[in-house]
Amino acid sequence: MQEYIEKNRDRFLNELLDLLRIPSVSADSKFKPDMLKAAEYVRDRIAEAGADRAEIFETEGHPVVYGEKIIDPALPTVLVYGHYDVQPADPYELWNSPPFEPVIKNDRIYARGACDDKGQFYMHIKALEIMLATGTLACNVKVMIEGEEEIGSSNLGTFIRKYKEMLQCDTILISDTSIIANDVPSIETGLRGLTYVEVEVVGANRDLHSGVYGGGVANPVNVLCEMIASLKDENGHITIPGFYDKVQELSASERAALNAAPFDLEEYKRDLDIDDVTGERGYTTIERTSVRPTLDVNGIWGGYIGEGAKTVLPSKAHAKISMRLVPHQNDDEICEIFTKHFESIAPASVKVKVVPHHGGLPYVTPTDSVEYRAAELAMEESFGKKPIPTRGGGSIPIVALFEQELGCKSILMGFGLDIDALHSPNESYGLFNYYKGIETIPLFFKHYATLKK
Ligand code: BES
Ligand code: MN
Ligand code: MN
Repeated sequence: MQEYIEKNRDRFLNELLDLLRIPSVSADSKFKPDMLKAAEYVRDRIAEAGADRAEIFETEGHPVVYGEKIIDPALPTVLVYGHYDVQPADPYELWNSPPFEPVIKNDRIYARGACDDKGQFYMHIKALEIMLATGTLACNVKVMIEGEEEIGSSNLGTFIRKYKEMLQCDTILISDTSIIANDVPSIETGLRGLTYVEVEVVGANRDLHSGVYGGGVANPVNVLCEMIASLKDENGHITIPGFYDKVQELSASERAALNAAPFDLEEYKRDLDIDDVTGERGYTTIERTSVRPTLDVNGIWGGYIGEGAKTVLPSKAHAKISMRLVPHQNDDEICEIFTKHFESIAPASVKVKVVPHHGGLPYVTPTDSVEYRAAELAMEESFGKKPIPTRGGGSIPIVALFEQELGCKSILMGFGLDIDALHSPNESYGLFNYYKGIETIPLFFKHYATLKK
């Protein structure tokens, strides 16, 4: 297997670079033709790898790519999930090289989607190729690569309900998360859920002269800031009534295990160029970014932001607010209590509107399952070290739905690093990680087939 990787090393990379050249940004309709181009590219590579089926399925939104190789119905079946869509590359001026013209620098691939998730799911297609070319595939494989993960996977629920039969599997394998470091392998055993809303605060029926009316009429930007500020108290605790009702508190031993993972706070601060961290009092940075819920403004706007000064009392103010959720919070419920609370704290001088965007449920995977054990053995074999279970802070909304609809747990065997700058300018993915993933995935199949017997 190692020999096959060595022999095809450059081609494996070049194929990924071609995929990275397609600007498949799901959020922006201007890239719609590129979404289809990316889907076709993925379909063709799955077919080339030797699958007996590789197709594009239309949805209400962006298409889903599906492929499979069934070698023996009696063998266990692994469903590989990934996403070919990427986040918008804005702001383009902060990129050192154009986001859709990948370059290799310092053994890293720089491009939007290099890690999230093109570089990571493409490892699976190469792993499939290797297993088929070397006659070592020991499980049936189904591959589903979607195009709407970065915008909430809102059409994927319908898709998996409709094609439930086709998607039947024993476990789901996903590479869309991170490890602690290249010499500290880890497996994420949880994802946070998400509630995302947009709020609008409206004052007077038009923008006003800030001298003539200022002081006497509500300024929606000021009001919005005050309302947002009131959503957390001095301990960093969210003040929305009922917000923490269903939050699962970890036991002392669970917390100790979580905090035993290697983490250097000084290095963390240095990397981000900050003098101090912040967050909910009584919790460590690891806990704050994984097992505790959050509330953050993702964007805020209103009033005059052009050059120079314009004396104006704006009529409207807006913000996009996200809440990361933990077991057993429910995204719809949190959306409802947020909306109720936000409306209730609005002064009579303004009107507020809350519009829900996408959401998703939190997810936890057990560490005593056959599939977790297979991932652990695979990583141990390729990294030479037993991986540490960690809880992730990000969200992959479909994972909880997979469990509901297909009755399967997902294994989050990702190979990214925090320095990969997902969603940021200059996203990158290490060549080490790309090839290590390609090497590890066939080992997962090997161990899974053996353990499942
Ligand atoms: N791959 C990420 C999620 C992730 C990143 C999990 C790193 C763990 C570690 C995924 O593509 C993502 O960005 N998800 C969004 C979900 C949202 C758009 C519904 C997120 O977490 O913001
Ligand atoms: Mn992703
Ligand atoms: Mn992402």
